[in-house]
Amino acid sequence: MSSLPSSDPLANKAQAWSALFSEPMSELVKRYTASVGFDQRLWRADIDGSLAHAEMLAAQGIIGAQDLADIRRGMAEIAADIEAGRFEWKLELEDVHLNVEARLTALVGDAGKRLHTGRSRNDQVATDVRLWLRGEIDQLQPLLRAMQHALVELAAQHTETVMPGFTHMQVAQPVSFAHHLLAYVEMFARDAERLADVRRRVNVLPLGAAALAGTSYPLDRERVARTLGFDGVCQNSLDAVSDRDFALEFGSFAAITMVHVSRLAEEIVLWMSQNFGFIDLADRYCTGSSIMPQKRNPDVAELARGKSGRVVGHLMGMLTLMKGQPLTYNKDNQEDKEPLFDTVDTVRDTLRIMAEMVGGITVKADAMERAALRGYATATDLADYLVKKGLPFRDAHETVAHAVKLAIGQGVDLAQLPLATLRGLHPSIGDDVFSVLTLRGSLNARNVLGGTAPAQAAAQIARHRARLAG
Ligand code: ARG
Repeated sequence: MSSLPSSDPLANKAQAWSALFSEPMSELVKRYTASVGFDQRLWRADIDGSLAHAEMLAAQGIIGAQDLADIRRGMAEIAADIEAGRFEWKLELEDVHLNVEARLTALVGDAGKRLHTGRSRNDQVATDVRLWLRGEIDQLQPLLRAMQHALVELAAQHTETVMPGFTHMQVAQPVSFAHHLLAYVEMFARDAERLADVRRRVNVLPLGAAALAGTSYPLDRERVARTLGFDGVCQNSLDAVSDRDFALEFGSFAAITMVHVSRLAEEIVLWMSQNFGFIDLADRYCTGSSIMPQKRNPDVAELARGKSGRVVGHLMGMLTLMKGQPLTYNKDNQEDKEPLFDTVDTVRDTLRIMAEMVGGITVKADAMERAALRGYATATDLADYLVKKGLPFRDAHETVAHAVKLAIGQGVDLAQLPLATLRGLHPSIGDDVFSVLTLRGSLNARNVLGGTAPAQAAAQIARHRARLAG
């Protein structure tokens, strides 16, 4: 059975590519292969890319000035319709590219059919995703800055607030709450650097690679790159249409960032629990229980922690999607979009809400301090004190272990042991020992670059403020 070819090749999907097909696509295949349900999100990048391509085609004399004018007019109408929610997306037109192009042709006729000269959906989709992702990256950077800003400003109020620092989740040494928060600032600062670096490799133009081999039309790819704000042009057409490593790099950035978020979220959950009681969260970030009236749960932090799983999962999905794909474009690549989109959405929403929530943390300094006192956090300070009196460190370590054992036996802190008891452990101990056994003494002593002394934290806060303002 054959039917007359329509004058609009995109009107019938079976003829979208050629008259070669003698029967329409099965309904199931249509639905299985269509991406328009999710890739319509790329519409603006698709139109911008097409306009830049059309301008270049006209400048090179490949299409006429009237064609360009018609394409511009049609695209303006399409953009307005999409923005207003009036555009009719058609499943049978498979993806965002064919939907926009078919509508353009319906609106402006032959000029619409000339747009695809020297272009393939293979270089078109790679261009669209890069353009779109670049825009999203530029919106994520301020959120990463806001996150750091929230942490730095909270830290600025707590350079003197002592909490236990942990290793193995056991009380280790006293640190300031500021110092602890500033550790996360370092992590998010590196995430921001990574993202800036990813952007450099996202921002390269594939268009002009056509299906895979380049094109016989005299395209000016540099011109298109300049129009679209790309920093450069993909130098190999096969690579341009097939690789998605820029998406993998973005996914890696996102996974690492979410892992950082999940650690902070986990600590917020712990700190807010009754057993720690280090902080409180503003009510607007908590939820209650339908059965236990006393509950205020840190759901936001828990969800942020949980959502790191899907972002890590998306990275695994995208890596697996690319693994073993022969050059060049394969339809597999259509599967890059949903994980990429969800990654962007998740990271964006998570950074936004976590930054806000950090700004709403109330610190319970007394509870932090009590916890630091409970765990013999100044034991290392006593050892350092003995070293300064001339003991080799290993001997000092052993002596202090005895002191801690005694203190545990008596149910007191190191600083509460009588001087006579301490002297019994080593005669070099004098009453100057008590200044090093206090939490503040311990904190102040760690005045090395990168250490927890309040002076160091203050210097870091000043550095971060200057960096984030710049
Ligand atoms: N929707 C496709 C994708 O997302 C566009 C490219 C299709 N190219 C092709 N030759 N089928 O990858």
